[in-house]
Amino acid sequence: MNQNRILKGGGTLQGIVKVPGDKSISHRALILGSIATGKTYIDGFLFSEDPLSTADCLRKLGVNIPEVKKDEPFEINGIGLNSFSEPSEILNCGNSGTTMRLLMGLLAASENKNFILTGDQSLSERPMNRVCKPLRMMGGKLFGRDNGNKAPITVVGEKLKGCVIGTPVASAQVKSAILLAGLTANGSTSVIEPASSRDHTERMLKAFGADLQVRGELGRNIVINPGKELIGQRILIPGDISSASFWMIAASIIPNSNITIKNVGLNPTRTGILDVMNMMGCNFEIQNQKVIAGEPIGDIKVWASDSLRPFIIEGDILPKLIDEIPILSVAACFCEGKSEIKDATELRVKETDRLKVMARQLRRFGANIEEKEDGLIITGGSKLVSAEVDSETDHRVAMSLAIASLIATGSSVINRSEASNVSYPTFWNDLDNLLYYN
Ligand code: S3P
Repeated sequence: MNQNRILKGGGTLQGIVKVPGDKSISHRALILGSIATGKTYIDGFLFSEDPLSTADCLRKLGVNIPEVKKDEPFEINGIGLNSFSEPSEILNCGNSGTTMRLLMGLLAASENKNFILTGDQSLSERPMNRVCKPLRMMGGKLFGRDNGNKAPITVVGEKLKGCVIGTPVASAQVKSAILLAGLTANGSTSVIEPASSRDHTERMLKAFGADLQVRGELGRNIVINPGKELIGQRILIPGDISSASFWMIAASIIPNSNITIKNVGLNPTRTGILDVMNMMGCNFEIQNQKVIAGEPIGDIKVWASDSLRPFIIEGDILPKLIDEIPILSVAACFCEGKSEIKDATELRVKETDRLKVMARQLRRFGANIEEKEDGLIITGGSKLVSAEVDSETDHRVAMSLAIASLIATGSSVINRSEASNVSYPTFWNDLDNLLYYN
């Protein structure tokens, strides 16, 4: 059901917030816990639509995943490598690209079994050949609409052979699918990325006992050797920096704000937004830094800045802040001068075409924003005015537009705000708790 929310500008954000668990790590915890032997204990799991799609698919593949309840740790009894059963139903990945692409790697390697993966309207239009092609090089048999590029995807499981694969895009989903396929291939599999993408799969595979090496300049070459059994682990999932980013930017641009976000994952392949906040001259401090279960975490304290500098985002930093471009485009509306986002064509194949959608929606607030082939040019500094805007079903767009409403004059309406359930179902409650009006 469409939920339209009304938000009034002119408030301030104050207090402490704990964002929900990291989405990328939640998917991987379920997947590796399922293909390991023994028990995997998961604490901090993100109870939202996307990871729940992964849980549902794994159940259909014969893994006994208990009913997951919000804020309750749980255990999975792993079934071991190459042990999925052939499901009688189609695997529905919902809106989740990570579910579909990571599972494709494991299913392609499940000999003599057949699978069909599908998703919602958005996922069914997203490119899958970026995963199908490397898996086919390994001997995988994957078919789909549009020359094998679009869901529904049929997978005929095969014994795969290890390969050296250079990926054309820096995508953790593609890299992870290949590494997961490599776990049971004949011989070693080597992935070379054009730039480093998030490395949660590598960290977790190592923790589970896989024979994995990270090599080369900036760790862009990852090699996996088959033959090792994965052993169940205890996984503590930190808060998602991509969810925290809405509050980090909101507190920077909304006058008199001062907030602390607890327990945020600070994996260096995810912290590009902190570099951009430094470029902008935002006020923030990282506190209580520690490493938990192989992932660095900390609290982020952010307080308002009177004026912010414009920024340029381009090149190798993109994968480190790929999901933060929508909220950074809101931030740019507040920076004095011209900000530029370049080399961001990947944004066009996310849950929506985020360059087009953010430009279209932010213009409704009166933002000065130009859409380029590979990015956005945003001239900030002028006041945003209240508007009726639409998430266009994209979770990160919904939450970015909510923050933009808070710096606009008057009351704005956000249509289809429920899109936030994909990654941050408690976003609106957290906003209520942080937001004060004089
Ligand atoms: C993800 C990787 C990124 C990111 C997505 C989650 C993952 O996608 O945008 O939200 O968990 O591996 P790409 O691999 O397409 O860059």
